[in-house]
Parts: sequence; structure tokens; C-alpha cells
Amino acid sequence: MIACHFNTLILTLAFLSGVIMSQSSITAQCGEDVTLSCTFPTLGLAANQQVNVTWKKPRADGPDLLVHSYSLGMEKQSEAYRGRTQLDPEGFAKGDASLRLRDVHIQDEGSYSCFVNSELGPWSEETSLTVLSMIPPTMVQEGEDITLSCSFEPERNLQLLNITWKKETAEGRDLLVHTYYNGRDQMLRQNKAYLGRTQLYPERFHEGIASLRLKNVQLADDGVYTCHVKPQLGVSGEETAITAQYGKDVTLTCIFPSKFKISFHRLSITWTKEGAQGQGLLVHRFYLKMNWREGQEEAYRGRTQLYPQEFPQGNASLRLSDVRLQDEGSYLCNVSCELGSWSQKISLIVLSTVPLPVPRS
Ligand SMILES: *[C@@H]1O[C@H](CO)[C@@H](O)[C@H](O)[C@H]1NC(C)=O
Ligand SMILES: *[C@@H]1O[C@H](CO)[C@@H](O)[C@H](O)[C@H]1NC(C)=O
Ligand SMILES: *[C@@H]1O[C@H](CO)[C@@H](O)[C@H](O)[C@H]1NC(C)=O
Ligand SMILES: *[C@@H]1O[C@H](CO)[C@@H](O)[C@H](O)[C@H]1NC(C)=O
Repeated sequence: MIACHFNTLILTLAFLSGVIMSQSSITAQCGEDVTLSCTFPTLGLAANQQVNVTWKKPRADGPDLLVHSYSLGMEKQSEAYRGRTQLDPEGFAKGDASLRLRDVHIQDEGSYSCFVNSELGPWSEETSLTVLSMIPPTMVQEGEDITLSCSFEPERNLQLLNITWKKETAEGRDLLVHTYYNGRDQMLRQNKAYLGRTQLYPERFHEGIASLRLKNVQLADDGVYTCHVKPQLGVSGEETAITAQYGKDVTLTCIFPSKFKISFHRLSITWTKEGAQGQGLLVHRFYLKMNWREGQEEAYRGRTQLYPQEFPQGNASLRLSDVRLQDEGSYLCNVSCELGSWSQKISLIVLSTVPLPVPRS
């Protein structure tokens, strides 16, 4: 188990990794002690009633880790937490099943579930823990290059990562040092002070390395840096994400329920793209058994195609040829017929190899 490793790095570096949950969350520095809170209702519960408490940590690639459990005076836990946790059974009567976790490790980051069983029935609560690792500052010569280390647990099949390197400022607003998503560096978003001086190593992402090269270090670079790595999801729940290579063709998949018999005369399929102001830009329209050019955005002229022979199978997918960077965005596929209408959101991500700016040396 890797505990808190204090490398002799040049800048103060804080390291964050993992997905931020919507539940209550707590941030701790590596090596600190924390209390993961869990409170449950006790109204009507007799003071000496038996209460069972189990704290678990879900894992992506296996069964949940048992962090600490308490049942009939017996306590259990996994090796990873041996000797580092503490529950206070005296607190149960007051509805408090909070867990004390000592000497937080980087691997402790993640979400924690607290399950309580009493006469009143089951109760559960989730908390997420973010672990920041601070590396003490050291002197650096102006003009030198350094690599700020950041590692994360790589997941299989993880196509898209969202990596954000920030620098904390005294004013409280973080400076965006470097950001990477949609499969490429997002150089336009970076703070001007770092222009042309930063570089990630995408070829090492699969090893779980998101370290940042910072060139030509300046006095003003002094500060606390945070690295945050998370999977880039297909935005909101139902929305699916499709990636395309710049200049290639792509099929935006849209499958609608086709159990009912569709009348072709009434079938209407409209593909729109969400514009900058949230308005729908017409990408392709099909109705009255025909494709219509009226109203179609100029940029899509001659580049779109539907597959009418596939409609009876519920396939309203759109073929988009010669993909451009501007095609990236959120698409809505809307199918309507006499039975009603149905729609699906698809987000298109355009991958391209954008050359890195040449650093000044
Ligand atoms: C607590 O756990 C014990 C042992 O697993 C079980 O016998 C008991 O019924 C549990 N009590 C409650 C209130 O769930
Ligand atoms: C990437 O992550 C940052 C910070 O966690 C967030 O603000 C941003 O919206 C994310 N971008 C994408 C495309 O997911
Ligand atoms: C929809 O039709 C297109 C064109 O025939 C095909 O390439 C695609 O695989 C179909 N999609 C599904 C999910 O059947
Ligand atoms: C889909 O199209 C139908 C018919 O034009 C319309 O009534 C409906 O509001 C559209 N749905 C969405 C989500 O845009």
C-alpha cells in the first residue's frame, strides 16, 4: 500500500483524483485523520436497542471493501483499513455511526457507504472522501523545466479522460494551468501565463500517469498545484457519446422503439444540433418519405444521410461525412409518427491531432 509519499518536487503540488460525488463530501490531506459522518434516525428506538453498522467502500473492479463493521459487539474490517478506523458504539443511541479514519492514504479516496440496521429497519448514507496529497515546496532555479507528478488508477475501456491541472491563488480563483478532454489538449482554455509551457503525456494515460511538464519555470509559478483526473462521461444520464476522427465519416446512432407499425407517410425524423445559444440548428429532416433541404444548416449541406431501409427496424441513425471540428456538440434525434414522438440526445466528440505549441526555451 502506497502511503503518503513526499517527493522532493520543486513546487508545492496537491494531487486530487477520482470522481466527485453529489453526496456529502469531505476533503483530507494525505496523512490526516478524518471523520466520515453518518447519522440515522433513532426516534422511538429504545436506548439499549441493538444496532448493526457496516461501512463499505464500493470498488469499480470487484466486491465492496469492508471498511468497518459492528454487530453484536463484534468488529470486522479489511486489511487495507486494519487499525486505522474507529466506530463509537456509544454514539449509536444518539443516531451517530460516524467513522473515524486515521492516517488517510491516497487509495482511501472514493465514496463510502454507511449501512445501519436497527429495529426501525435499514438506513444508509453515502459520503465521499477526496484525498489531497501535498508535496513540500523546494527551491527551484528560474528557467528550469520540471515535471509535476500525478498518477491515477487507470480503468479498462476508459476511452475519454478529463484531466485538469490548476494552480490555487490567494484570491481564491484557481488558474487553469492545463486541461485535456474530448481526447485532446484544450489549449485555448489555459491561463495565458502558461502559454506554450505545459505538456501532458497522452501516451502514458493508460498507465495512469497524468503528470505535467512545466517548462521555463518562473517566479510567479510558485504555488499549490492540483491535478484532477476523472472519466469524461457522456454528459447527462441518457445522452450517449460518439467519437469521430476529424476528416472521417461517422454514424450518429439513434435507435427508436419500433415495436409498433409505423406508417411511412407520417414518419418524420429530424436531426438538430444544439447551437451556441441553445437553439436547434437543423442538421437533417426527413418527412413525407423524403429528405428536405429547406432550413438545413449550410454547414451540413451534402454531408448527411439517413437510411430509410433501416427505419422499420427503428434505426434513424445519421451518417455524417467529412467530420469537422465545428461538428462537435450535442445532437438531438427526434422521431415522430402518428403514435407520438420520441427523441434521443447524442454528443459528438471530434478527435484530432492538434500539434502542441513549440515551447520557448
Ligand atoms: C445484527 O446482526 C446480527 C448478526 O448478523 C443479527 O443476528 C441481528 O439480527 C442484527 N440486528 C439487526 C437489528 O439487524
Ligand atoms: C472536466 O472537468 C472539469 C473540472 O473537474 C469540469 O469543470 C469540466 O466541465 C469537465 N469537462 C468535461 C468536458 O467533462
Ligand atoms: C443502422 O443502420 C446503419 C446503416 O445501415 C448501420 O450501419 C447501423 O449499424 C445500424 N445501427 C443499428 C444499431 O442497427
Ligand atoms: C419532436 O418532434 C415533434 C413533432 O415535430 C415535436 O412535437 C416534439 O416537441 C419534438 N421533441 C423534441 C424533444 O424536440
